[in-house]
Amino acid sequence: MLRKLLIGTALATSFAFSAHAADVKEVQMLHWWTSGGEAAALNVLKQDLAKEGYAWKDVPVAGGGGDAAMTALKAMVAAGNYPTASQMLGYTVLDYAAAGVMGDLTETAKKEGWDKSVPAALQKFSVYDGKWVAAPVNVHSVNWLWINKAVMDKIGGTEPKTFDDFVALLDKAKAAGVIPLALGGQNWQEATMFDSVVLSTGGPEFYKKAMNDLDEESLKSDTMKKSFDNLAKLVKYVDPNFSGRDWNLATAMVIKGDALVQVMGDWAKGEFHAANKTPGTDFLCYRFPGTDGSVIYNSDMFGMFNVPEDRKAAQVALATATLSKSFQSAFNVVKGSVPARTDVPDTDFDACGKKGIADLKKANEGGTLFGSLAQGYGAPPAVANAYKDVVSKFVHGQIKTSDEAVTELVKAIDDAK
Ligand code: BGC
Repeated sequence: MLRKLLIGTALATSFAFSAHAADVKEVQMLHWWTSGGEAAALNVLKQDLAKEGYAWKDVPVAGGGGDAAMTALKAMVAAGNYPTASQMLGYTVLDYAAAGVMGDLTETAKKEGWDKSVPAALQKFSVYDGKWVAAPVNVHSVNWLWINKAVMDKIGGTEPKTFDDFVALLDKAKAAGVIPLALGGQNWQEATMFDSVVLSTGGPEFYKKAMNDLDEESLKSDTMKKSFDNLAKLVKYVDPNFSGRDWNLATAMVIKGDALVQVMGDWAKGEFHAANKTPGTDFLCYRFPGTDGSVIYNSDMFGMFNVPEDRKAAQVALATATLSKSFQSAFNVVKGSVPARTDVPDTDFDACGKKGIADLKKANEGGTLFGSLAQGYGAPPAVANAYKDVVSKFVHGQIKTSDEAVTELVKAIDDAK
């Protein structure tokens, strides 16, 4: 990949020499925000940029988690056709930066004081070799339950505090004839849920060792086996049609009351928001049982490419708009995420958003803020893909036991490293 990317760099540089007309008043953005809630959030940005005279050139590549988008991006970059920016997750930003194809937003960052307002956990991925190469858009968190309130009332359920409580709650839904767990059987959704299962099963220290440090003893431990056993318990509560289902369709099952709960990142809340649903009245957001106090995060970043000179002004406008306080509030209220700056008031956020902001602050201060392995913040993409693959094979019965699962996991991660 690196060689291909460098060929791309050469091409882009030659563009830079040949095109010196007036600034191009257009932002070209590659992203995977194609669900209702995501599109609504993206509109906030489009409108902000339109006010400044920038046209929006959309490059949407559907597929939650962004795997398809990242394949498309790779092809564009290899062809020297850099978008102004691309939605990216953590380690992917660092990969492109290492390949030398990213731009340098440091001047803008200094002027805007990003080093003071953006949390260190995000700067680790948006700054490479001392240069700002990406603008963080938000902080998402994956260890959440999204519950239909009317269904919860109907089955007489209460907030599950432990994994066993959760299983008991799912049993109640089953007994009432409701689909207990809404899941989309795609590897990234299964692995995103498994992140939470591991944290709940092993606790914060274990999560960090296994999922961020990739410590082999932890990866093959009995605790990891138990995590797979717990995952198997949850999978018993999904409906027979779950294979291949998109995440937002699983969210829609909960919104409609066809299912009790979805375990998903807080982009799911964007769907509730788009459907005009209110937390506490229509739906409930709880931390995944047994993970309260910890936050497993990911952050959407706009990776900024080394575009030709006449496209740099648009890039600066995009980056400045993205990290402005007003945008950080308006966008994240709609997206379901929380601001990527620590100085944005929570006034406009709903109860789940306020909880998300408070939880993030607490976890950040208490050392219980961990990168999501499924969502590109635990390890580089090759390792994350290996993880997603093993988890998915387990969910779909190609890996049959938790013993086999940990053996395969250790092997796959080793090969990917
Ligand atoms: C992104 C979210 C997005 C979700 C589903 C995640 O990887 O961080 O912004 O909403 O995928 O598409």
